[in-house]
Amino acid sequence: MRVFSGIQPTGAKHIGNYIGAMRQYVATQDANEGGAYFCIVDLHSITVEYDPRDLHDRSLDLAALLFAVGLDADRCVLFCQSHVAAHSEAAWLLSAVTGFGQLGRMTQFKEKGEGKEFVSAGLFTYPVLMAGDILLYQTDIVPIGDDQRQHLELARDVAERFNSRYGETFKVPRAVYPEVGARIMDLQEPTKKMSTTNGTPQGTVLVLDDPDTIRKKFKTAVTDSGREIRFVPEEKPGVSNLIEILSVASGRPIAEVEEDYDGRGYGDLKTDVGEAVVELFRPVRERYAELRSDEDELRRLLRIGAEKAQTTSAPTLHHMYERMGFVAR
Ligand code: TYM
Repeated sequence: MRVFSGIQPTGAKHIGNYIGAMRQYVATQDANEGGAYFCIVDLHSITVEYDPRDLHDRSLDLAALLFAVGLDADRCVLFCQSHVAAHSEAAWLLSAVTGFGQLGRMTQFKEKGEGKEFVSAGLFTYPVLMAGDILLYQTDIVPIGDDQRQHLELARDVAERFNSRYGETFKVPRAVYPEVGARIMDLQEPTKKMSTTNGTPQGTVLVLDDPDTIRKKFKTAVTDSGREIRFVPEEKPGVSNLIEILSVASGRPIAEVEEDYDGRGYGDLKTDVGEAVVELFRPVRERYAELRSDEDELRRLLRIGAEKAQTTSAPTLHHMYERMGFVAR
C-alpha cells in the first residue's frame, strides 16, 4: 500500500492536526510496504492572504515538527510541495476534468471565502491541486481528518473521470480517518472544529504551547449543562471532545475513560486532560527545539525527500501528458 498525505505550513499546528493527522502519519510510515509520502503543501498556503517571510519560516518549522512527532527520513518521504514541479503541472492538467460546479460546492471554499473582500482564484481551484498531490503518487490510502472528506471525494471523482476519458492512469485513493479524534473541536466553541483560521485562540491548543498555557486552555474549556461525564457528541459536545482528547493522550478507549469518571466532576476531567496533553507533547517540544535549530540539516532532509518524490511522481505525470495527447519532447 502506498500512503500519501499533506499538511499546510501556515497557521500554528494544533492538537486537532496532531490527533487527526500527524499521529496517523507516524503510524503508517512503517506499516506500508509501498512507501509513505508526506508533503508540506506550501503551494496550498498562498491561496489565502499570507506573509512570504512567514511562509518560509513556517515551512521549516513544520518540517522540524513532523520529524519531532516521529516521522523518520529513512522510513518515509517528507518533502515540500513547491520542490516538485509535477504538483503544479498536474493541477493544471486535472483542471480539465474537474467540474466548476463541484468546486463551488466545497464547504471549505465557502467558509474560507465568506466575508472576505478578496477571494483568490487559487482558493477556488485548491482541491484540484490537492487531487494532483494524491494522484501523482498512485496512492492507495490518504490519512486525513474529517474536514478533508469532501476534498478526498473530489480527488476520487477526478481520478475516475480522467481514467474513463483518457484511459486507466490513476489509482482511485481511499481516505483513512482515525477511529477516535477525526474531528477535534474548539475548546471554547465545541460545536466548531478546532482551527487556527476560524477558531478561538483560547480554544485552540497548539502542539508547541508551553505546559502552563496548555493547562490553562483545558481548565477554561467550555463544558455542557448537566454533570455526567459521558461520550455523546450531539448532546454534550464539550465533554465528549475532552473525553476524546483524553482517550488519545492516555491511550485508553473511550468507554474506559467514561467509566473512570463515573460520579466525578468536570473539574477533574479538565485537569486530567490538561496534564495528559502536557505529557503527550513534552517530548515533542524537546525534540522540536533541537531539530529546528539546525536549518541546514532540515534543508538537506527536505532535498532528499524532494528527490525521491520527484522520481516517484515523474512516470505518472508523463503518462498524463501522453494520454492527454501532448507532443512528446
Ligand atoms: P490542513 O493543513 O488544514 O490540516 C492538516 C491535517 O489535519 C487535519 N485536521 C484535523 N483533524 C482533526 N480535528 C481537527 N480539528 C483538524 N483540523 C485539521 C486535516 O484533516 C488534515 O488531515 N487540504 C489539506 C492539505 C492537503 C492534503 C493534500 C491532505 C493538501 N494536499 C493531499 C491530504 C492529501 C489541508 O488544508 O489540511
